[in-house]
Amino acid sequence: MTGGTGGIGLATAAGLAGLGARVGIVGRDRARAEAAAERVRATGGRVDVFTADVSSQREVRRLAQEVLAAYARLDVLVNNVGGFWATQHTTEDGLERTFAINHLAPFLLTNLLLPRLRASAPARVVTVSSGAQAMGRIDFDDLQGERSYSGQRAYNQSKLANVMFTYELARRLERSGVTANTLHPGVVRTGFGQEDSGGWMRVMLPLVRPFMKSPARGAETSVYLASSPDVADVSGRYFANSRPRSSSRASRDAAAAARLWQVSMDLVGLPVDDGA
Ligand SMILES: NC(=O)c1ccc[n+]([C@@H]2O[C@H](COP(=O)([O-])OP(=O)(O)OC[C@H]3O[C@@H](n4cnc5c(N)ncnc54)[C@H](OP(=O)(O)O)[C@@H]3O)[C@@H](O)[C@H]2O)c1
Repeated sequence: MTGGTGGIGLATAAGLAGLGARVGIVGRDRARAEAAAERVRATGGRVDVFTADVSSQREVRRLAQEVLAAYARLDVLVNNVGGFWATQHTTEDGLERTFAINHLAPFLLTNLLLPRLRASAPARVVTVSSGAQAMGRIDFDDLQGERSYSGQRAYNQSKLANVMFTYELARRLERSGVTANTLHPGVVRTGFGQEDSGGWMRVMLPLVRPFMKSPARGAETSVYLASSPDVADVSGRYFANSRPRSSSRASRDAAAAARLWQVSMDLVGLPVDDGA
């Protein structure tokens, strides 16, 4: 699972380890990741640590290699890492950071791990989106915000991309025994967005923090989708509070999802295919 060293990801790792799963967590910093793993191990959980900065496609590829070398079978992939940046940043691949981390990183990692997931069926891919998907619009003419950047617009677009990616993935995985679902975790008390929060967020966050969900509650839908027998055969759905919800009209545009898939293949350097 990506981002298991803090926030919703750590709570998801703890939840799944508590159910008896062997969990691999991914963070950028080994010491922080080891400290997080120790917290879960202290409760009896089995946790392996991987380090990678998923803003870099080179590191996502290395991560995938290490995961494939470590696990002969993969039952669940949880794509959890995501962030918000009020100002525009560029990754080492020359890509806008929100799009790169929130969409292209899970897209690339999932594709690289897909043969192992298929071979491990029944298996599941769970991608953490957000209620912000409802405000998203995929701007195919300016995916990277080169013409104009807004942190909120970039975030909304990336979280819509998570839903469209999941729906297209589910279509591609029909009858494979591998499911793909996505979710809104709720508004959760984590370090989310604090690296580069905008003025509005800086003012509002301390006021709303007491009313936010705990990370453990924010992880409930991820844990449910990753583990519950109730959803063993459910695929291509968007969830909140462990229940299926309808996602935005834009997210259900299958032609746009197929187009986004092809554009993403190109941006991560994978061969563009015919969707079969
Ligand atoms: N919090 C909310 O209210 C909320 C609401 C809706 C949706 N979400 C979604 O929930 C997901 C998790 O959010 P969160 O609130 O738990 O965020 P968070 O507290 O900011 O998550 C931090 C986790 O992500 C890892 N991480 C961050 N950047 C990384 C990178 N470049 N490479 C590898 N790991 C990285 C961190 O690891 P290290 O720092 O150890 O590297 C840490 O494990 C996101 O997809 C977010 O969009 C959150």
